[in-house]
Amino acid sequence: MTNSAEKRILLVEDELSLARVYEEYLRDEPYVVTHVDTGKGAFAELASGGQDAVILDLRLPDMNGIEILKHIQANIPELAVVVITAHGSINTAVQAMQLGAADFLLKPFDPERLIYTLRNALERQKLSQIVQVFQNEFDRREYEGFIGSSLAMQAVYKTIDAAGPSSASVFITGESGTGKEVCAEATHARGPRRDKPFIALNCAAIPHDLIESEIFGHVKGAFTGAVADRDGAATMADGGTLFLDEICEMDQGLQAKLLRFIQTGTFHKVGSSAPLKVDVRFICATNKDPRQEVEVGRFREDLYFRLHVVPIHLPPLREREGDIMEIAHSFLLQYAHQEGKAFQHFDAAAEQAITAHPWPGNVRELQNTLRNAVVLNTGDTVTLEMMPQLQAAGGQSAVKPASMSDDGMTTPGQSTDSDGDASMKDASITPMWEVEQNHINRVLDLCDGNVSKAAAALEIGTSTLYRRMKEFK
Ligand SMILES: Nc1ncnc2c1ncn2[C@@H]1O[C@H](COP(=O)(O)OP(=O)(O)OP(=O)(O)O)[C@@H](O)[C@H]1O
Ligand SMILES: [Mg+2]
Repeated sequence: MTNSAEKRILLVEDELSLARVYEEYLRDEPYVVTHVDTGKGAFAELASGGQDAVILDLRLPDMNGIEILKHIQANIPELAVVVITAHGSINTAVQAMQLGAADFLLKPFDPERLIYTLRNALERQKLSQIVQVFQNEFDRREYEGFIGSSLAMQAVYKTIDAAGPSSASVFITGESGTGKEVCAEATHARGPRRDKPFIALNCAAIPHDLIESEIFGHVKGAFTGAVADRDGAATMADGGTLFLDEICEMDQGLQAKLLRFIQTGTFHKVGSSAPLKVDVRFICATNKDPRQEVEVGRFREDLYFRLHVVPIHLPPLREREGDIMEIAHSFLLQYAHQEGKAFQHFDAAAEQAITAHPWPGNVRELQNTLRNAVVLNTGDTVTLEMMPQLQAAGGQSAVKPASMSDDGMTTPGQSTDSDGDASMKDASITPMWEVEQNHINRVLDLCDGNVSKAAAALEIGTSTLYRRMKEFK
């Protein structure tokens, strides 16, 4: 039995007499030393794992110790390696340090040298592990596409850390523009399916009569227009993740089919009765309150419980203290770079207005505001005048925050869009929505009505564009 405070040291030294000497040097230290005298033996020990440090003689009968060092760096980088080189081969020692060795010892060395070199290497290793844990656990300013170090987001990152590796269904809620799609992608990226497909399907964007075929595929002749067999999202996501966005928009008949698919992993294509089996992980998202949707009978309760295994709620931007300016700075630099502009800073009034604004459209609204400011202006400092959306009420927002129910969800049916300030209904000012509507129509015309192309040109998501078009209708 080894004491948990004892460190496990692997000693790789081909000369038996020297190995005995080193073991003797370390006798009073809290270490359990395992000795091997060949490179092959070292690889075997490393494969079984559990070591904290390696003392590695570089000259071995069956290989150069550098090979072992490279293997450790590539596969077990947290392991502290102290290399031993013959006197006069300082170049080799330097090479070993460059390859990530913690320290080196030149033969011959006295007991003190060995003891302290090893102690320090282990201490540094412990510190770097603590720093790593600290960075992972507490102070993540960025995480898989998210920016923001607020406590509220740290909790989200932790949940994704924990949920990513499993296959449990994840149910993401949050107001529009809070990063639900970013969250779905992050969950996929943090799990073992990361190299497999991530297939996103927007249940609101696809016409109801086509969505079943979009999910499950169809066979030739299944319906008018089905000119050939086609795979659906379920097949494409096999081995990976199926992201069902705006899940609450799915119609009831299809909800029953989806439930069966989740329960059994089997489904059949539209127009076929042959069952197909796939292995997919489900992630879904909605900007509605799913429990309320269940209560009013629009969303099946059994489906809700199947999918609602790991809930992740993305807080609205206005509740992420500190994140607003972190995200704003990041977007400012990104857009300035893309547009070839010099913008670097916000002046005090601009910063005050950004912080005070309730951001009903959340991160997406912040993106749009800053992109407009960067595209339409020049200079290195963003002023309040460059963000007329925020200037409307003298730094105070003219936009009301989305109405919230007790659990922090947007109340369904209530638009999060601006309804404007009565004092601003000046005939000379075109309201924002109208500017946006005209702009979207113009781009759609330019793209011959192709929504994906238009969305790409506008640098927004296809689903966002669909939603905007629906709102305008
Ligand atoms: N924390 C964040 N840091 C940086 N960018 C973010 C963050 N959250 C969201 N974004 C960006 O904001 C935009 C909106 O995010 P996303 O599409 O994931 O939101 P959503 O919640 O799915 O919105 P909707 O309900 O409208 O579909 C995207 O461009 C995304 O990359
Ligand atoms: Mg989305």
